Amino acid sequence: MIKIAVLVSGGGTNLQSLIDGCKSGFIPGEIVLVVSSKPDAYALERARKENIEASVIEKKLFKNEEEYSAEIQKAVDKKKADLICLAGFLLKLAPNIVRTYKNKILNIHPALLPEFGGPGMYGIRVHETVLKSGQKYSGCTVHLVDEEFDHGPIVLQKRVPVEAGDTPVKLAERVLKEEHELYPAAVRMFAMGEIEQIL
Ligand code: GRF
Repeated sequence: MIKIAVLVSGGGTNLQSLIDGCKSGFIPGEIVLVVSSKPDAYALERARKENIEASVIEKKLFKNEEEYSAEIQKAVDKKKADLICLAGFLLKLAPNIVRTYKNKILNIHPALLPEFGGPGMYGIRVHETVLKSGQKYSGCTVHLVDEEFDHGPIVLQKRVPVEAGDTPVKLAERVLKEEHELYPAAVRMFAMGEIEQIL
């Protein structure tokens, strides 16, 4: 059983899929902590409903990225988490926590990295850019987090067709549905020790 800390900023649908994955036993793990960068994230409500310890750590209260990340790391260290999952978490983690938790931080991105990723590429903007590019496919990616945005080794990806007349919202919904399958599958791989083998 692995201990999982989940960092969130928004609605928490990916957090929910990880909660459900642990409850069903598909993920041999337990979510021991949720940290939100925003006090009003609905993801906090999802954690409360499951009696999962949750806290808000807001970047604006810290001098810089390093101090902010150190505060998050303190909370994660305390719970002795084996894995950190970024799930709709919108901020970049500083090198300190990324180094301490090297190859133990996963992120899910709503596009087929390395395309359509990097600073500023999050939320609906990703899908607008994909549609503007004329791609026939989009998708989602789970990757290990390194010191650059959306850049670490890819663990799993799922392709999703772009359909005629797609709007960014419709494409986002189609991709999000696949994210909810992909993330639990990637966390299960981590828990089974299968990610080390791809490094
Ligand atoms: C999702 O598109 C996810 O890929 C991205 O943040 C969006 C919202 O995620 N990382 P959630 O509903 O808050 O989990």
